[in-house]
Amino acid sequence: MPAISASAPAKVILFGEHAVVYGRPAIAVPVTQVKAKAIVTANPRGAPGKVRVQAPDVGLESTLDELEPAHPLAAVIQAVASSLKVKRIPACTVRITSTIPVAAGMGSGAAVSVAVIRALSAFLGHPLPDEKVSALAFEVEKIYHGTPSGIDNAVVTCARPVYFVKGKPIETLQIGRLFTLVIGDTGVASPTAVAVGEVRKAWQADQTLYEAYFDSISAMTQSARQAIESGSVELLGPLMDANHGVLRKMGVSSAELDILVVAARRAGAWGAKLSGGGCGGNMVALVPPARAEAIAKALQAAGAIRTIVAEIK
Ligand code: MEV
Repeated sequence: MPAISASAPAKVILFGEHAVVYGRPAIAVPVTQVKAKAIVTANPRGAPGKVRVQAPDVGLESTLDELEPAHPLAAVIQAVASSLKVKRIPACTVRITSTIPVAAGMGSGAAVSVAVIRALSAFLGHPLPDEKVSALAFEVEKIYHGTPSGIDNAVVTCARPVYFVKGKPIETLQIGRLFTLVIGDTGVASPTAVAVGEVRKAWQADQTLYEAYFDSISAMTQSARQAIESGSVELLGPLMDANHGVLRKMGVSSAELDILVVAARRAGAWGAKLSGGGCGGNMVALVPPARAEAIAKALQAAGAIRTIVAEIK
């Protein structure tokens, strides 16, 4: 049997992170320049049920039964097997590689899950439809993130810009006019679960204030949706700046993120904000296409360890 492979892109959140955990809408887009890939290869001479798991990027070389059941890779493999009612997976090797920065707000965990679900379900003879892929990835997201909204698995699965409300069917967005983003990585690892936990504590301490923050972000996200769909790209920059302002007040920005956001604006970005969980990780700037490379350089000069230019269409 030939090796079966599948991949899934990274993502950035353009509007609504954190508020989306509390039922408000968010907008996210795929970032196809970086990817997670899974390859499943049959081991015809291996004992049935013997599944080798390799993730060289994180130095993992194991068998499935040696991994803790709560290990995200064990969990995703088991989730596929039980969803397909497969009691014993035929002997195989599941190899995962990824170029998506980890703990950087780019959905690396969701992308790994989606790639594994697609490759393994195809290997088992029942490639799963997107809705099921996303639902299984969401189960695994709960192990990585605690209380995820589900936006990461949604956007990474459908690989299209999405307007997302927790618990509702995924809506893909029609882009009225192409726009260009520059993503800058602070290099500060910041697990989403930690940032989400900090916001939860702050919300518990002052629900009125945080609900008001979430409502103002929700209004921005809805305006942004109209601007994206009608091709009024010029309206998005100020909305991104405003969203960053609220995220700062919520305590999820950081000195490194603020430096990159300011550097992007000074270099000519139309707007910029942190993206994802915050407290580190990535920021995203909306830029005039002709200035994208110059703005990426300005971000590197201001401390970004990596930049990605992405066209959204
Ligand atoms: C993570 O990409 C975005 C957060 O809103 C968490 C979530 O939605 O699960 C911070």
